[in-house]
Order: sequence, then structure tokens, then C-alpha cells
Amino acid sequence: MSRNEQNEAATPDPSAKALWGGRFEGAMDPAMVPLNLSLDVDARLWREDIRGSRAWARGLGRAGVLTGDEADRLVAGLEAVEARLEEGLPVDPPDEDIHSLIERLLGEEVGALAGKLHTGRSRNDQVATDMRLWALSRLDLLDAELALTGEALLAFAERSVDLVIPGYTHLQQGQPVRAAHWALSHLWPLLRDRDRLRLARRAAAVLPLGCGALAGCPFPIDREFLRRELGFDEIARNSMDAVSDRDWMAELLHGGALLGVHLSRLGEDLVLFASREFGLLRVPDGFSTGSSLMPQKRNPDVGELIRGKAGRFTGNLMSLLTLLKGLPTGYNRDLQEDKRLVFDTVDQLLLVLPAVRGTLAGAEWRPDRAAALLSEELLATDLADYLVRRGVPFRESHEAIGRVVATCEREGCALSALPLDRYRALHPAFDEDLYSVFEWESSVESRAAPGGTARVAVLDQIEAARRRLATGDGRRG
Ligand code: ARG
Repeated sequence: MSRNEQNEAATPDPSAKALWGGRFEGAMDPAMVPLNLSLDVDARLWREDIRGSRAWARGLGRAGVLTGDEADRLVAGLEAVEARLEEGLPVDPPDEDIHSLIERLLGEEVGALAGKLHTGRSRNDQVATDMRLWALSRLDLLDAELALTGEALLAFAERSVDLVIPGYTHLQQGQPVRAAHWALSHLWPLLRDRDRLRLARRAAAVLPLGCGALAGCPFPIDREFLRRELGFDEIARNSMDAVSDRDWMAELLHGGALLGVHLSRLGEDLVLFASREFGLLRVPDGFSTGSSLMPQKRNPDVGELIRGKAGRFTGNLMSLLTLLKGLPTGYNRDLQEDKRLVFDTVDQLLLVLPAVRGTLAGAEWRPDRAAALLSEELLATDLADYLVRRGVPFRESHEAIGRVVATCEREGCALSALPLDRYRALHPAFDEDLYSVFEWESSVESRAAPGGTARVAVLDQIEAARRRLATGDGRRG
């Protein structure tokens, strides 16, 4: 049986055109062929691969390894390959990865000269460079998406300043808050996520090209020239580290996972708030679905889908860390598994963020439901603070209000309905003006220290968040 018959029809036969054939007598085992392949995943790196190769060809020309004419012909050939790939990838190509495919197509354009391109270069520094190039542009895109999502949260907060809703701890009503305060509590984590992803970008902007397989380049290549050509911030200083350093990927996947977790918590709040039990918020039609069976259903799927992605982002981070753990020094083929993790997290974040924005843009509060949900017990802390203002130690006041709440619960009456003499019996410091505590507005207004729920504090917070969004720095500003 010929090797082609043994392989499935669509499975390429890369050993026929492998980049490393000379040392081998036997062909690649059919069971190894599909395991060895990475083209299905790394094909999307073709633009970066060509860009890196163009810079490399120019670098070889400047180093005198190629004549000026050879370098020009290689660059022109790579441009021709680029134009061909612009039309689409070849169908069922025989190549094992994108690097082999591009070198083969280059051969079709410039003939034997194509064989000079790989001088002094290895796929190890090549693929590390390609991935970083890819990430630099995608991290810029993610940064812009995060800024837009932050603006959407800010706009939502701005139209939520007047509404008071219950604030929760342990999913039990705790204290009243402005709805804007809730919205902003989801914005600050995103600002920090943006910062983290910016740090990942910085880590990615270190150039491995010119490090060869592991020991560096034997030709006088100007790596600073390559750095400038490819838009990196600095060059990797150790060739062995350069070909195996995937720290920036771990940082990206960590930033992405934490962002995913934050968005998941926002999604969870949206799902809860959109339920009949809360009914606080209406998720727009465009981001909800119905049921094929239950005609009445209107499901806040967007929140659930976003929540569901968090597991995937976390899984990608765990996969990468597990992949890296225990690798011996230098490049190891295990690293071929790194790409799909990075692609997946970035792709999925780019799906999730616009949906978050659209949902926020169309989400509507239900003030009637907010009013119905607010229980006077949310003001128990304010009552305790009332006594504190009259000189009662907080612990004593907490105890007294505990007795007030227990009494009202026993008698089935609202806190504001308990007569003054009953209050006095529970603590002598109560006076007529205690009933002014039962005002939602005065409760949120009382928390005027920075970071609190008073209008002035929330408006300050909005301005601070706006400045940070503008500077793109989540930790300063
Ligand atoms: N497909 C490989 C990867 O993704 C490219 C590098 C291959 N290097 C090698 N020495 N076989 O890592």
C-alpha cells in the first residue's frame, strides 16, 4: 500500500516536501503525519510569517549574506506569495505548517533562491516572532474594544445615577446604593484588566528573530534593524530564552481569564436582575432569546453565554501553564500547542466584548421594581448610625437595632411603623427625628466619603473613571 493510500484522502503528506528531509531515509509514518501537522491552526499566521520573512530577507541583504539583488527578489517573491494568499489558502496543501507552506510558494515564485531565505533562521525563532507579531496587533484591537466597553459601562452608569436599588452581600439585601454605583463596580475591574493586557503587550514586544534554533545567528545580522522593521520595543537578549519564552502568552491568557471572570460576574448580575424574582432590569430583545417550547420565555442568554466563556478562558490559561511546566531548556515541540490557546482566548473575547456593549446600551432599569424590592431592613445600618451620631457606641447601637429588627419581624411591622415609645424602650437615645432615616435618598447621600454612594461621590467616581479610560491606565490618573 502506498503512503498516500494509507493516509486519508484529505491528509497531506508533508514529508514529501519537508524542510528537514536530508537526514532521513524513511518516510514519515502515517500515524505521525496528522500529529505533526499544525497548518490547520497556524495558517492564520500567514501575514505575520511573510512580514517577518521580508524583514529577514532585508536583514540578510544588509548583512551581506545575500546580494542586494537576491534580497530584492526574495522580498518581491514574498509579496507575490502574499498576493496569492490574499485570494485564499491553497486547497489541501501538502505542508506541515505555515512556514513550510510559504517557503514552498516562495519557491514557485523565485525558484532555488527561495532556499536562501532560511539562512541563519530557524522555525523556532520564526514561529516565536510570528506569534508575537500577531499578538501585538490583536492586543491593540482588544485594548480598543475594552475602551469601548468601558465607555458603554460609563454611559450606562451616567443614566443610572438617580435610581436607588438594593445592594447585596451574600445575595441578601444589605444597604441601598445608586444603580450607577453598581454599574461602576463592574467598570473598575475592566480598567484593571485593560492595564494587565497592556502589560502583556509589553511582554510580547520583545523580538526573538535572529536567535536561530537556540544558539543565536552566525551571520552579522542587525537585530536592531529587524526590531525597527517589525515594530518591537526591544530585542530578546538570550537566544535560548528567546525561542522558548511564552511568558507573554501566559500573561495574555491570565489577563484574558480574569477579564472573562469579571465579565462573567457582570453576566451573572444581568441574569439575576432580569429574572422575574428581581425584575430590576430588562435585557434588550436583541440579546435575549425565547424558548422553542415555552411561549412566554424571554431568556437573558447574553449573560449566560458570557458567563459560560469564563471557563474556557480559565481553561486556556491552565492548559498553557501545564504545557510549559517541566519543559527542558530551549524549544520543544510541545510548544506547538500554545497557539490555539492564545487564538481562542483572543477570538472569544472579541466576540464577547461587543455583545456586552450592545447589552448595556439597550438595557433598561425598572424603577417600579426597584422601589418594590427595597426593603426597609436595608436601612438598619442607617438606624445604627443614627444612634452613633447621638453618642452611642457602635456595638451597643448595633445590638439595639438588632432588637428593633427582631421586634418588627416578630410583629410583622415595618421598621418605620414601630412607634417612638417602642423604639425608646429598646434604646433611650432614640428621638422623634429617627424617622427621617427612612428615606432612600438620605441613606445613599449619607455615604459621601470618596468611593461611596452619595451623588457627589458617584459623580466624582464617574469623572475619575472617564479620565482613566482616556489615559488607558487603570491604576493611575
Ligand atoms: N509548528 C511549529 C510550532 O508551532 C513550528 C516550529 C517547529 N520547529 C521545529 N523545530 N520543529 O511550534
